[in-house]
Amino acid sequence: MTKPLVYVGMSADVIHVGHLNVINKAQELGEVIVGLLSDEAIASYKRVPLMKFDHRFKLIENLKGVSKVVIQDSLDYTKNLRKIQPKFVVHGDDWKDGVQSKVRENVISVLSEWGGELVEVPYTQGISSTSLQASIREVGTTPQNRLASLQKILNVKKHLRIIDVHSALSGLIIENLEVKKAGETVFFDGMWSSSLVDSTVRGKPDDESVDISTRVDGLQEILDVTTKPIIFDADTGGKIEHFRHTVRTLERNGVSAVVIEDKTGLKRNSLLGLSVNQIQADPDDFCDKISSGKKNQTTSEFMIIARIESLVLEAGMEDAIFRAKKYLKAGADGIMIHSKSSEADEVLFFAKEYKKFSEGQPLVVVPTTFNKIMDKELFDAGFNIVIHANHLLRSTYPSMVKTAESILSSGSSLEINSELWPVKEILNYVK
Ligand code: SPV
Ligand code: MG
Repeated sequence: MTKPLVYVGMSADVIHVGHLNVINKAQELGEVIVGLLSDEAIASYKRVPLMKFDHRFKLIENLKGVSKVVIQDSLDYTKNLRKIQPKFVVHGDDWKDGVQSKVRENVISVLSEWGGELVEVPYTQGISSTSLQASIREVGTTPQNRLASLQKILNVKKHLRIIDVHSALSGLIIENLEVKKAGETVFFDGMWSSSLVDSTVRGKPDDESVDISTRVDGLQEILDVTTKPIIFDADTGGKIEHFRHTVRTLERNGVSAVVIEDKTGLKRNSLLGLSVNQIQADPDDFCDKISSGKKNQTTSEFMIIARIESLVLEAGMEDAIFRAKKYLKAGADGIMIHSKSSEADEVLFFAKEYKKFSEGQPLVVVPTTFNKIMDKELFDAGFNIVIHANHLLRSTYPSMVKTAESILSSGSSLEINSELWPVKEILNYVK
């Protein structure tokens, strides 16, 4: 008599005894087919897997009790279940709440179409891939792994959210923060090392007064306690002869990408626009800088993203598009289109045009002034990376001023105390 088919969906990034318990139960019920979640399916609800799909596939294929492994290319089981029509689906009983609860309901409903049954195995206490992954990440990462991680994430997830960090503590916040939203877990995919922020925390203007070496020194403290990818804002990239060294320094430190903007002379912050003297670089000169950087990088994964200032400096959309095409030809791995408009219309128009001539190179945007638009709308319009460029710095400043003012005006810290981070919590957070 042929055994009934039993379907088990899993990510199997870090294999642990909980997986074996599920597979053992499945084997008791029949012939086990594992639906292995693709990298894209995993990235749709949690951090990208540590192990490549092919490696996870090989591991599971060789586990005792598994007859066959198939790809499950979404978190939802429906497509595979309808195709395989198993008698049973076996899963740990830890998916009744949270992001997977809807998936579970769907499994039950689809199985009912042919009288199939969901069998749940008690969750193996104290162990999960997520907690094991967190422990692995706690040990840290190597510069090479961190450098390559941005490309790795972009390969499986087309939309990334990045935010500014300016200290080890702000880095730790972004490393660990997760928000549960409508059954989904959202988090930042990486960190922006901003020239505006790095200059401001040092009490200097955003005009390259703070040199790259000082900024890279400051970055060390963030690198020490985090694992997520870093995108580094290198202003104009400096002189061509200097930029090639900057590229190597950033690579050596595990930075994933550098953004350079097409301005020349004394660089001023873009949001000042033409209220100050700012000169856009000659496109050919800027192409030479991009090519020199690409030629001199030592790893294949490091990305040089060319930032176009045509809209900021009122050179027009046509100029922005002309430059984008040129910069991509010169070897840029991505384009950042900047704008200081209060509306997103011009960057949205650019994104539409970009699709026509680009070949999958990521498109980056910094919605500081046009922040009525949702990240999702930017993603839907074709942007791949949304950078919230200065928001952590801008949020710390008002609270510092408020606290200092309160202590001066009330004569003690009692009044403001309830709004502050309790010392006990600090001691627990940073261990
Ligand atoms: C930065 O964060 O330093 C940037 C973005 O370059 S902007 O301030 O908008 O120019
Ligand atoms: Mg900057």
